[in-house]
Amino acid sequence: MAEKQGKVKQQTKRILNRFGRKRGNLIPILQKVQGKLDYLPREAMLEIAQFLGMPGIDVYGVATFYNQFRLVPPGRHSIRVCLGTACHMKGGYITLDAWKRRLEIDRGQTTPDREFDLDTVACVGCCVMAPVTVVDDKPQGKVEPTKVDGILLSFKLGKEKR
Ligand code: FES
Repeated sequence: MAEKQGKVKQQTKRILNRFGRKRGNLIPILQKVQGKLDYLPREAMLEIAQFLGMPGIDVYGVATFYNQFRLVPPGRHSIRVCLGTACHMKGGYITLDAWKRRLEIDRGQTTPDREFDLDTVACVGCCVMAPVTVVDDKPQGKVEPTKVDGILLSFKLGKEKR
């Protein structure tokens, strides 16, 4: 654990060395750190706060304000439920609820085994297939609760074959 925290600090410091100590650099710094670590760990945010001479709570506030930032590590598989108008009309929220119940997490969270993370997206451009869920960057159409079970089963079977 301490070793991992040390590594996060080191990686963050390396990124910070490329920036000036201006508060205006906060967002680009958060983007670079997330680009490197896949999310914004607490230790990284504290390091950034110290570097910019601002309270940690302010860094946290910015990181939570913009939904481009993740505060938890991503899962191996990403599940993005489309809640654009067409998908919403065709039951996107029912699909989202099905994913939440099956994975036992809320949107913006990752399962404890880090297998899946769940979130929502706006229209992904394939409204004729509504309701759409984007699974690992591939849009899948007509994803209703029974199909959620099918997708999860295929992941489970795929894992057993490995
Ligand atoms: S609204 Fe979901 S794909 Fe367009």
